Amino acid sequence: MTAHKKLSISQLKLFDCTLAQLIKRTHILESKDYIQHGNTSIFDHCLNVAIISLKLACFLKLAVDEKSLITGALLHDYFLYDWHNKQISPSWHGFKHPAIALANARRDFPINKIETDIIINHMFPLTLHCPKTKEGWLISVADKFCSIAEVFKLQKYQARQWHSK
Ligand SMILES: [Fe+2]
Ligand SMILES: [Fe+2]
Repeated sequence: MTAHKKLSISQLKLFDCTLAQLIKRTHILESKDYIQHGNTSIFDHCLNVAIISLKLACFLKLAVDEKSLITGALLHDYFLYDWHNKQISPSWHGFKHPAIALANARRDFPINKIETDIIINHMFPLTLHCPKTKEGWLISVADKFCSIAEVFKLQKYQARQWHSK
């Protein structure tokens, strides 16, 4: 059984619609050029986090704002540079990139309070401010889970693969 089958058709449609909007209105496709962990691009990492957080919300039977959850997930690492390149990446990237991602997101797209919380607080506990919303907590947990799966190249947790089946 592929991992995405527990998501409903309406959730997958919402995911596709949200992603299409972001592709049209932002520079999110640029993040395909930058590696996040292992051999996973930042773009694919954000897809992974969006799918895992949706699945986690279903598993926990949490009523969430799915549109904001997906939008926040897709933009949570919208910093648009190669963080491995020390000449481009700011010092303390781990601490600084949520604010950079939020500034870029606000520049390119209307961002609501939930999406702001998701983006700015997703690195908790590295950054000291914890998420204030259910959606923010879900993304913070999903981000860590996906990062581990990507570092260890666990293919079954790659959202792109699930979504194409
Ligand atoms: Fe991040
Ligand atoms: Fe991330």
